Amino acid sequence: MPEARRMPDNRSRIVSGRALDEEARLDASVRPTNFDDYIGQDRVKENLQIAVEAARARGESLDHVLLYGPPGLGKTTLAQILAHEMGSSIKISSGPLLEKKGDLTAVLTALDPRDFFFLDEIHRLQPALEEILYPAMEDFRVDLIIGQGPGARVHPYQLNRFTLIGATTRAGLIMAPLRSRFGIVHRLDFYTPADLEKILLRSAKILGIAIDQDAAAEIARRSRGTPRVANRLLRRVRDYAQVRADGHVTLAAARDACKMLGVDEHGLDEIDRNLLLTVIQKYSGGPVGLNTIAASLSEEEDAIEEIYEPYLMQLGLLDRTPRGRIATALAYKHFEIDEPRRQPGLF
Ligand code: ADE
Repeated sequence: MPEARRMPDNRSRIVSGRALDEEARLDASVRPTNFDDYIGQDRVKENLQIAVEAARARGESLDHVLLYGPPGLGKTTLAQILAHEMGSSIKISSGPLLEKKGDLTAVLTALDPRDFFFLDEIHRLQPALEEILYPAMEDFRVDLIIGQGPGARVHPYQLNRFTLIGATTRAGLIMAPLRSRFGIVHRLDFYTPADLEKILLRSAKILGIAIDQDAAAEIARRSRGTPRVANRLLRRVRDYAQVRADGHVTLAAARDACKMLGVDEHGLDEIDRNLLLTVIQKYSGGPVGLNTIAASLSEEEDAIEEIYEPYLMQLGLLDRTPRGRIATALAYKHFEIDEPRRQPGLF
């Protein structure tokens, strides 16, 4: 795989986009399986509920759905809920896992009528495989090539009607021909602290964790608008409360645990802080290129773009401009560093 496309192995980080197997299992145990239990993303949820109800009433399969937005916001969860609400089963794969044309053809031809196919990281699907998706999505057809060389023949193969759920953290990398084949397209936004608090209280109940409401609110504020981060922080805070106190998660325990984990009151961790301080201290506040920041931090560009920057931009601490990244006035304030006078018209 080309170097630039490899995702970083930053799985141990509290804010990472990926989860360890054990964490994935725990995540799955608190994951809602129907719309009623799903908290937040109200606009997306309502739109999807209407699409499901209408398709069910017509006795049809659901249109193909594209979900995009930062990692950890519940794209997989929503795909599973959609399949569940339509009474269908779901097969799951991801762009980088499908290497050869035959890998994708094998999945598509094995789909039963009304099945859901969840294709994560669809922006990393190879162009040759993307071409297979077009007729599959549009006409439920794949062209099987029998034989090799001049004698090779094309055999159209009729697939069962299925619903493709594409998910991506990088909507900008989805080209128009693919994007236009999705009938339903939604962006997931960061969750509000109030929604994250509800999610945390629900998860705590399922996992049997005793937690005070103000502690849940505190963890929610430090969870980068992301349920996956919130649920992970909850487990680490529970560990802390268990070892340092009687296991009950109080506000003080939540604050102390976050401090030990290096997660500040805005949810920023060591790498976020290093990123901002690199721009401020090494590059005079920017503009500085993504590749330069990545090299300075020894982090992958993909991780910086997909995991750290969206949240820093949401907080108004970082700007992306055509000439590079810039630390905002708010970022200087956050670190209590005096902002240098910038020459007018420099960027
Ligand atoms: N766990 C993770 N995401 C959730 C959500 N959106 N609602 C309820 N529980 C969740």
